[in-house]
Amino acid sequence: VSSPSADDRRAWGGVAAAWDRHRERLFETTRAVSERLVDVVDPGPGDVVLELGAGPGETGFLAAERVGTQGRLISTDAMPEMVEAARRGAESRGIANVEFRVLDAAAVDLADASVDAVISRFAVMLTPEPARVVREALRVLRPGRRFAYGVWGAMDQNPWMTALGMAMLTTGHLPPGPGPFDPGGVFSLADPAANRALMEAAGFIDVRVEEISGEMHYDTFDDYFTLQSEVSGPVAIAIDSLTDADLAAVRDAAQEQLEPHRVGDGYRTPWTAVVTSAAST
Ligand SMILES: C[S@@+](CC[C@H](N)C(=O)[O-])C[C@H]1O[C@@H](n2cnc3c(N)ncnc32)[C@H](O)[C@@H]1O
Repeated sequence: VSSPSADDRRAWGGVAAAWDRHRERLFETTRAVSERLVDVVDPGPGDVVLELGAGPGETGFLAAERVGTQGRLISTDAMPEMVEAARRGAESRGIANVEFRVLDAAAVDLADASVDAVISRFAVMLTPEPARVVREALRVLRPGRRFAYGVWGAMDQNPWMTALGMAMLTTGHLPPGPGPFDPGGVFSLADPAANRALMEAAGFIDVRVEEISGEMHYDTFDDYFTLQSEVSGPVAIAIDSLTDADLAAVRDAAQEQLEPHRVGDGYRTPWTAVVTSAAST
């Protein structure tokens, strides 16, 4: 199986510039997930931390602060454009203890038992064979250290995403790639029990699964649509190719979907993520 697929490469490589542009907002809105991931793997001075599917890199940068100049973050993503975005982020902040690599989370080019922590935020569910990712994390971890990853929770708890997804569906513009619940789909690991099973099947111990929730804030519908239509991987690619009339129809449908969450001119929409962590033996 080639991973990531050509569709994924186009989708996620294509939105890297937007993730770079919106990096602060994308990070801060769900910062609680990043903090939890770093807290549970608990990196200390001198540790080596591997981040998978790092995108613009912000979650790993939290860990880089903790490992100090003797330690190292290995910030990775399968898309070279995302790795470049992460590199720019670190350079602009003067974060020096980071190594950047283009790397498929399902085929980690690192030696066995060579890192002290593995983290990943909102990427594992996008890989077509998450079992491979989890096995790779276990292989590269030193004994007794932890892997922690965050994925999106249930669809009905993430209307900020389903509003746009449903708008694409009802207007007949299905994005490329897997469906939302298929392997590699955005809600493919939304069930906490599925994450526990995934980690236990790989041989991890002390598996902990928790849900973390928060709220997304958008000042106006334009604010919502601009952000989400630019960063949402496959959906962003599909939106890019719409005619003006089709785009107007998608916008109307998304606005209708979001209506229950309107507060004045803006919107407040809940989000829920599932954070899973476990220890190597
Ligand atoms: C939704 S973004 C999340 C980015 C970042 N971790 C964050 O939380 O802001 C998903 C990321 O996973 C990456 N990705 C997709 N498939 C991957 C794979 N097979 N291996 C590694 N990264 C992958 C994408 O390029 C993208 O950067």
